[in-house]
Amino acid sequence: MGHGGNVIQELTADHREVDELFAQIEALPEADPRRRELADRLTMELVRHSVAEEEHLYPTVRRYVDGGDDLADKELADHAEVEQMLKELEGCEPGDGRFDSLILRLKSSVTAHVGDEENQLFPMLADSCSADALDKLGEKVRSAKRHAPTRPHPSAPDTPPANKLLAPGTGMVDRVRDMLTGRGKQG
Ligand SMILES: [Fe+2]
Repeated sequence: MGHGGNVIQELTADHREVDELFAQIEALPEADPRRRELADRLTMELVRHSVAEEEHLYPTVRRYVDGGDDLADKELADHAEVEQMLKELEGCEPGDGRFDSLILRLKSSVTAHVGDEENQLFPMLADSCSADALDKLGEKVRSAKRHAPTRPHPSAPDTPPANKLLAPGTGMVDRVRDMLTGRGKQG
């Protein structure tokens, strides 16, 4: 299943990309520097996905799904936990023991989130919303994600400040989130 369908197909495609990034990290030798680059891509992907869900999925879940407030609150708490781990990962290099343990903890937390959504939340959403509403939500999620890059080193950033914004490493979680939400633009 690729990108481009309704909200459930779109977010499920993100989940599979994230699974694939974890698998690629795990397949490389422990101290391989490419694991740092993959961790940066994983960070960008997870932050884009989280922001898109927070802006477009959970408000809909709260409004239309029975018990939606509790479900949305639980997912938001999971996102906060994942972002905290991503921030810790920013300062770690492959080969340093913390890198591996954080990847393992992240994977278990993300796998639980993916299971909650795919087994519980998405089926409930499909029962509560029309096919048309799910399609429109898919469009909104795609457009929300477009405001952030998927790769930490784009070959041609549009404007010079993008170099700074996109620099991987410390502070990347906050920078990607700011780029997506417009948070801190006035500052
Ligand atoms: Fe998700």
